Amino acid sequence: MKTEELINTIPKAELHLHIEGTFEPELMFRIAGRNGIKLKYNSVDELRKAYEFNNLQEFLDIYYTGASLLTTEEDFYDLTMEYLKKAATQNIVHTEIFFDPQTHTSRGVEFDTIINGITAALKDGRGLKISEAQTGISSKLIMCFLRHLSEEDAFKTLHCALKHKDKIIAVGLDSSEVGHPPAKFRNVFEAALKEGFLTVAHAGEEGPAEYVWEAIDLLKVSRIDHGNRSISNPDLINEIIDREIPLTMCPLSNQKLKVEKDLTQHPLKEMLNKGIIVTVNSDDPAYFGGYINENLTAISDALSLSNNDIYRLARNSFTASFLDFKSKQRMLQLLDEWV
Ligand code: ADE
Ligand code: ZN
Repeated sequence: MKTEELINTIPKAELHLHIEGTFEPELMFRIAGRNGIKLKYNSVDELRKAYEFNNLQEFLDIYYTGASLLTTEEDFYDLTMEYLKKAATQNIVHTEIFFDPQTHTSRGVEFDTIINGITAALKDGRGLKISEAQTGISSKLIMCFLRHLSEEDAFKTLHCALKHKDKIIAVGLDSSEVGHPPAKFRNVFEAALKEGFLTVAHAGEEGPAEYVWEAIDLLKVSRIDHGNRSISNPDLINEIIDREIPLTMCPLSNQKLKVEKDLTQHPLKEMLNKGIIVTVNSDDPAYFGGYINENLTAISDALSLSNNDIYRLARNSFTASFLDFKSKQRMLQLLDEWV
């Protein structure tokens, strides 16, 4: 089978996806229209042309502006459902979705409005048709704290989440990395762990390998989001291998935000060959020019990945997921039967 066909059809999980980063310009215009908001762009094309970034912060400024259009439960439902429909066409059978409540609560949107809209769509997504053989996208929700805000603000957000514990599997950490190390959030992560949440954190995207150490040692993360900079530190790489900490990597994001000079320089294949549980994900697909299959194709072309590498990446996506043991075994079996 040709690699591209394999990529498009193989069953897979997505583990690093910001729901606000799936906000396509067409939906922005639709939601702005019904909420009586006038965008400063005249067309979808004009808006897309603004998506040129030199670093993470330039992207975040535009991403938060886009996200500020979301106000009602229906907005969060539509945003999530559009992503799930797209995911179904790419043979994603399981997805773990980040959401950034502080982006919305800081504008007066209620925490419950956000989570109720998202989870109603996730529930309906369990009935979406994926292919002739498969029905339903299973999903988990991960609540991210914005690291440019204070730990006190993160505590307030954790407090709001407590009555929705059954809907949230983990807490995460995102937004502007440099200058906001994981150590800044050690107390709130400790409290989240005590409440039974798993933890993940963006680390080593633009920040140094030291931030990845901190995420592991202080925040007790089950996975690292990105982790590119880990490759500069052999001791850290050994630790990641020994502790079997998966990395959720996002090639097109790294290219668009200039985290890597060129995709041919991306550390994914070296990491895969060292036995690290790396996965490929889309991060903010509406802004970076592709969903999971386009990410797999781009990195496969850049690093000449084999069909067996693609199989290993798909396998890793289930292994690294937060599915319970039985569901994980079922999905791994589904993958192997498919292969
Ligand atoms: N929020 C959305 N996308 C992000 C990224 N790539 N890094 C940090 N925060 C983000
Ligand atoms: Zn991310």
